[in-house]
Amino acid sequence: MHPDCERILISEGEIRARVVEIGRRISSDYAGKELLMIGILKGAMIFLADLVREITVPTQYDFMAVSSYGASSKSSGEVRILKDLEYGVEGRHIIIVEDIVDTGLTLNYLAENLKSRDPASVKICTLLDKPSRRVEPVEIDYNGFVIPDEFVVGYGLDYSDRYRNFPCIMVLSPKVYMNEGE
Ligand code: PRP
Repeated sequence: MHPDCERILISEGEIRARVVEIGRRISSDYAGKELLMIGILKGAMIFLADLVREITVPTQYDFMAVSSYGASSKSSGEVRILKDLEYGVEGRHIIIVEDIVDTGLTLNYLAENLKSRDPASVKICTLLDKPSRRVEPVEIDYNGFVIPDEFVVGYGLDYSDRYRNFPCIMVLSPKVYMNEGE
């Protein structure tokens, strides 16, 4: 266990089993169709990489980067596109892939933005859902785990860009972020 973390919330094995399950569901829901998975950088990269390898229908993936948080743990409420998709999504079946839905501001913005580009369909897939923090409602189509309101890191999730490479989801010790802003 890393000294900056309090405990393991979701183990590597639990993540693995859930990713396989979601991959099977997506493969069956999109049978006969082609998929475009859109990973939201940077957090979703690891989840997307594992998930696409469990999907058996023809699949492409691309990335977007948006800025919704500063270096601190609090949401600024602002969403800005920092990197857009390489190609258009008109007529495509797309799934937006996130690591976590927190306030819902990022996904609401992204879903609206992508819907305005006339795709055939838009669905949302997230590894983690923290409903207690929701400011705007989000309809999640594929969800890995509902989690309590704790600061989690690992498997793509960060604090100040650190801890993303942990293979499981861990609760960050408050001592790490307690003194922020001082
Ligand atoms: C996280 C996460 C989502 C967003 C969710 O990204 O990956 O994109 O916050 O929060 P919300 O529901 O309150 O909008 P972050 O801005 O931390 O960037 P990162 O993915 O690069 O870590």
